Amino acid sequence: MLEFKIDAERCVLCDACVEDCPVRIIERTDGLPFIRPEREAHCLRCQHCLAVCPEAALSILGRVPEASLERGPNHLPRMEQLERLVRGRRSVRRYRDENVDPALIDSLIATAAHAPSGVNAQGLVFHVMDDRQQMEQFRRRALADLADALAADRVPLQFAYLHAAVPAYEKHGVDILMRGAPHFLIVAAPEANPCPHEDIIIALTTFELLAQNAGLGTVWCGMLKMLLETLPDLKAELGLTEGYVYYPMLFGHPAVHYPRTVQRDESVVIQRCAITQHD
Ligand SMILES: Cc1cc2nc3c(=O)[nH]c(=O)nc-3n(C[C@H](O)[C@H](O)[C@H](O)COP(=O)(O)O)c2cc1C
Repeated sequence: MLEFKIDAERCVLCDACVEDCPVRIIERTDGLPFIRPEREAHCLRCQHCLAVCPEAALSILGRVPEASLERGPNHLPRMEQLERLVRGRRSVRRYRDENVDPALIDSLIATAAHAPSGVNAQGLVFHVMDDRQQMEQFRRRALADLADALAADRVPLQFAYLHAAVPAYEKHGVDILMRGAPHFLIVAAPEANPCPHEDIIIALTTFELLAQNAGLGTVWCGMLKMLLETLPDLKAELGLTEGYVYYPMLFGHPAVHYPRTVQRDESVVIQRCAITQHD
């Protein structure tokens, strides 16, 4: 049941909901907009109808418009601010030894979960290590298990970077695997989602920008992905189950500050596309 409801006193019969529904299941004849029961199963649950209604007259899925955030031009960051965030985002590989406030972590994840997913499938799971002491235990376990796997020749050759991780830690105390970070976030999506790989990367990209805007450091962690692919028992212990695709990111309070952006504009390739017309 979609619980599609129209407040008759507010609805001005403008058809905005009818026209914006991506699967065109909202109809209107003479009266108020409606969805035929037999078409409800086609709903993507995207809530566009609730978001687009200019009169806040529509609720669906038990969501009322009053509980949404307003989204007028005055509520959005300026273009120049967003540009600085995107250009000034850096991979942070040095962290302070302190926990990020769990309430901040939860709020960043809750907002990142608004990132789009193919066919609005959603269903992402956010695996978070939110305690730095737990993370330290995980780091030690990971490096010990990796050392065993290396000794037993169980680390695939294509994971060449992993081969350097154990000596770097044992000889120099340098953690090239998880960069001494106090936390990780691993986003997982059901393989059955129409676009699971894209879904997790978009969610992590969104989390990264939000986290850096909140003063945190982040770094994508291909090394941790390789590690977990090499050590299935450790992966299972984190609650990462079969049937999901996933990717990790490290984060925490940074021990490094970048007072300026890097400069990459000259390496941008813009190829304008055109189609030849055949008569
Ligand atoms: C998919 C992906 C995986 C990455 N894996 C790692 C990693 O395992 N360890 C690391 O230190 N950096 C990792 N990075 C960070 C890149 O090296 C970094 O983005 C790049 O050098 C550019 O630096 P910037 O992010 O500061 O612009 C990864 C980045 C991406 C996008």
